[in-house]
Amino acid sequence: MHTSTRARNDIRHYDDLADEWWRPDGRLRGLRWLAEARSTLVPPATRDGAVLVDLGCGGGLLAPHLSGLGYAHVGVDLTGSALAQAVAHGVRAVRGDVLRVPLADACADVVVAGELLEHVADPRAVVAEACRLLRPDGLLVLDTINATALARVTVRLLERVPGGPPRGIHDPNLFVPPRVLVEECLRNGVTLRVRGIRPRIAETLRFAVTRRGSVRFVPTRTTAVLYQGIGVRTPL
Ligand SMILES: C[S@@+](CC[C@H](N)C(=O)[O-])C[C@H]1O[C@@H](n2cnc3c(N)ncnc32)[C@H](O)[C@@H]1O
Repeated sequence: MHTSTRARNDIRHYDDLADEWWRPDGRLRGLRWLAEARSTLVPPATRDGAVLVDLGCGGGLLAPHLSGLGYAHVGVDLTGSALAQAVAHGVRAVRGDVLRVPLADACADVVVAGELLEHVADPRAVVAEACRLLRPDGLLVLDTINATALARVTVRLLERVPGGPPRGIHDPNLFVPPRVLVEECLRNGVTLRVRGIRPRIAETLRFAVTRRGSVRFVPTRTTAVLYQGIGVRTPL
């Protein structure tokens, strides 16, 4: 049973939600929908032994979408209860802080940071770590929440939907403007392109009425609420 007595963005929210990651009608189902959208940016591996490092992997929701793409899926997270779920879904778990990832330079063909950057105090440092982990020509894939008034209102409402993410799991003061990520990527040899994403309207309405089914996210012109980023590391 989740209590909402935690401080904003307290990482222990995820321990409270340990059983929710994979529950079909669980409170984290929105993350599953976003993981599916993120996975469309990950191409099949181009070499044997390819590695995808999933920063802040949580319960490993990306795992089913990577099946058959040819990567070893390595997940880094601080929350042990989430990592246990990830391991149960085939992720190789590394318990650690995304601000100081305990993995070698240039170990990854793909680095993913999904719905993570809006939860850390220093997103620039996480981006620098992500870029450090990438091999030359490696791919960075991310998605996060923009630091806009519209995003604040949207998340505030979302946290009040019964059965949705718990109140206080986000701290709007940590939401991230795309400019920060683009700049930091550039400083670290990655040219990042960003695009907005939004839920499909008809599926959202159907879900709002029936509380059943899933909602797909699709590209949209505005990055004002949710956005994805994709970038390639320049060969040395
Ligand atoms: C919103 S969840 C996203 C999980 C997963 N990427 C997904 O999209 O399903 C954020 C995750 O980041 C992890 N996290 C937050 N801060 C972290 C840090 N400094 N180092 C490692 N993991 C962190 C949390 O434990 C949680 O699992």
